[in-house]
Amino acid sequence: MPDFDDKIAVVTGAGGAIGSAAARLLVERGARVALLDLPTSRAHELATQLSNAVRFIPTDVKDEGSVREAVAQTVEHLGLPSLLVTVAAINLTGAVETLSVEDWDMMMAVNVRGVFLPIKHVVPHMKVLDAGAIVNMCSVSAFVGSTGGSPYHTTKGAVLSMTRSLAQELAPHNIRINAVCPGWVDTPFTDAYINAQPEPAALRAYANGLHALDRMARPDEVAEAVCWLLSERASFTTGSELFVDGGYMIKR
Ligand SMILES: NC(=O)c1ccc[n+]([C@@H]2O[C@H](COP(=O)([O-])OP(=O)(O)OC[C@H]3O[C@@H](n4cnc5c(N)ncnc54)[C@H](O)[C@@H]3O)[C@@H](O)[C@H]2O)c1
Repeated sequence: MPDFDDKIAVVTGAGGAIGSAAARLLVERGARVALLDLPTSRAHELATQLSNAVRFIPTDVKDEGSVREAVAQTVEHLGLPSLLVTVAAINLTGAVETLSVEDWDMMMAVNVRGVFLPIKHVVPHMKVLDAGAIVNMCSVSAFVGSTGGSPYHTTKGAVLSMTRSLAQELAPHNIRINAVCPGWVDTPFTDAYINAQPEPAALRAYANGLHALDRMARPDEVAEAVCWLLSERASFTTGSELFVDGGYMIKR
């Protein structure tokens, strides 16, 4: 029997490379999925491809009213969610002395508040079901630093700490919560970033070489880890981080 038969999942950032891979795999394994993403995102296309098993609900994860409404629509059209994957995030970079307060606040709003709010509004339904599993998309960036990357690294560190605290808080309600930490993932976004640099080929080789397996992850490899953590196969795993990093961390 597929892992997620009759289960309802909420996926934020579902129009992106990793979010859409996670949503596809959830549907393949029996879930019905609410795709939460900005109205301008590609989640609409995904909804067309996956048809009846999903519903695209335009949402801004940093806005409480928008998230509250999205979860209400999920319950109304799909049912009570017992699975949540928070993937939506942005990446604004800059040297500390030139970084604007607006950019800093935007990073915190999307990447940290935008993880807190879906959890806040989905958890009451999980409590009704007395069951739930949540995966937060984190990153090896929670563990390492990079020049100009302080806002992103800070947000991923916050998501990791949030995961650990909420794992304790939610355990009495049979709700597990874990973080997945990829290294570099080969996505259109990563590609665009690399191609915008002065020596794209050299940068790609360098990025591949950061991983023991000498390549970046594919989005579907990250999605596999998400689905394992959401499934009953991971029934005794909570408050942990799962590296899907091709050996990035052990090379350091
Ligand atoms: N790509 C990588 O190399 C990599 C590595 C490690 C971790 N991650 C993490 O994986 C996740 C997804 O990365 P990706 O490569 O798929 O990125 P992506 O840009 O393809 O997807 C992100 C999605 O989030 C959505 N989003 C942004 N702001 C939003 C908002 N305010 N409300 C709702 N949705 C919003 C975007 O529209 C987009 O569809 C992120 O959390 C990222 O930090 C990515």
